Amino acid sequence: VVAHALDRHLALAGFMGARKTTIGREVAGRLGRPFVDLDGEIERRTGSSVAELFESRGEAGFRAVEEEIAGEVLRSAEPTVVALGGGAVLSAATRETLAARAFILLIEVGVDEAWRRVGGSRRPLAQDEDEFRRRYDERLPVYEAVADARARDETGVVLAAGGVHVQLGALELLGSLVPGEGPAELVSDARVAGIHGMDAQLALGRRLAGTHELPSGEEAKELATVQRLWSALRLDRAGTLVALGGGCTTDAAGFAAATYLRGVAWVAVPTTLVGQVDAAIGGKTAIDLPEGKNLVGAFHWPERVVIDPALLETLPERELRQGRAELVKTSLLAGRELDVRGAAAFKTAVCLRDPREQGPRAMLNLGHTFAHALEAASGYDLPHGDAVALGLVAALRLSDNAAALDTVRRELDPKPVAVDREAAWSALRRDKKRSGGRVRLVLLPQNGHPEWGVELPDDDVRAELDLLIAG
Ligand SMILES: NC(=O)c1ccc[n+]([C@@H]2O[C@H](COP(=O)([O-])OP(=O)(O)OC[C@H]3O[C@@H](n4cnc5c(N)ncnc54)[C@H](O)[C@@H]3O)[C@@H](O)[C@H]2O)c1
Repeated sequence: VVAHALDRHLALAGFMGARKTTIGREVAGRLGRPFVDLDGEIERRTGSSVAELFESRGEAGFRAVEEEIAGEVLRSAEPTVVALGGGAVLSAATRETLAARAFILLIEVGVDEAWRRVGGSRRPLAQDEDEFRRRYDERLPVYEAVADARARDETGVVLAAGGVHVQLGALELLGSLVPGEGPAELVSDARVAGIHGMDAQLALGRRLAGTHELPSGEEAKELATVQRLWSALRLDRAGTLVALGGGCTTDAAGFAAATYLRGVAWVAVPTTLVGQVDAAIGGKTAIDLPEGKNLVGAFHWPERVVIDPALLETLPERELRQGRAELVKTSLLAGRELDVRGAAAFKTAVCLRDPREQGPRAMLNLGHTFAHALEAASGYDLPHGDAVALGLVAALRLSDNAAALDTVRRELDPKPVAVDREAAWSALRRDKKRSGGRVRLVLLPQNGHPEWGVELPDDDVRAELDLLIAG
């Protein structure tokens, strides 16, 4: 089963008029991948327009050329976003290459809408409306048979490409959202198990092969907890570990999945706002050491992330607030106000662009250098979201971004915290993002345009940190 487009081409299939080219170009930009419009590539390589090729070679002749060029594009090593011509998947050879090398996304469009968009245009197959509708009915089942997933718009495509499914009530569909047919073992946060565990078990139905509970909160990320989980697991390589809970549960269970039997598939079902917009997305998993948080971990992309915003209805206000800080941060990075779906898509795109955090993914640390320092200095008493809200203030002040600063103050109302100034400063200097003797920061001079790896003089950084500390 192909559940996402990590390390694979993202191929957009669908009927004429589905906006495959427009959507493909936009999504390629968001994922930082080359974009290939297959029809355009055919025209470039043959020096003739699609209409001319149809005219001179007939449909069968055109399909042969299309098949050859599609094969070459899909065999290229660098993952691309490729918009397939409407008929490309009719070729058995193309379907075979697609299955081996691509994640195939069906861009859905109704026939009326499709005809409204392209009827009577230059396209050779969009001249006669009855013929157009007949072709649509004929092709729809072919698209549905080859597609790994479906979407309608840019955000939907990004989410599907990352294997992220956002839907109110999605928990009830969990059995069908866990890719494959094999057994699944459910790992839940103890508190969440009491609230949503039974629904998850019912939804997994016959696939449920075992259940496990982890302690609530950061204790889930202790080595002893993960060791107990490793020992209790019975999955073989064909099985899937399903993690139901907040970031602590998905971090710990994701790490167990990354390491058990050298790696089994896992599915994240985040139940906190932090989890839904941040922690469950992007494949970073980790546990804590006495020496520090998240010091042992692995990159292990979940086969699917199932986001059901209805699960947040039972989340206490204090926990919601933690997630709001990440939501505001993500909106500022994106340059527009995002809801849970939009924020999940933004993080998905950044992580698909940089799955191993070697470049742009660093932008997600906006405000976090200061936040980590304050959390450490408070002995981890200060909740992460509150620390991020303060960290955003410092980062935005250093960025000279007054508008964003206003947004943070209005939405999050961060208040200075009483921690030891020296402890906070030495924690900041220890921060792992530090390199070459200086602190490297993420700045946001303009909403939507982050800069990462920025080095500033220690005195400036320390002065901003001091302003976040009360007393
Ligand atoms: N892997 C990543 O990329 C990443 C990113 C951000 C944060 N994290 C990690 O995430 C962790 C924090 O995650 P969190 O904020 O989700 O905390 P959490 O997992 O501890 O959950 C917070 C609390 O809410 C309860 N809870 C969860 N869902 C609930 C629901 N629907 N109804 C009622 N109660 C519910 C839990 O029992 C817990 O007590 C940290 O360890 C952090 O390091 C990881």
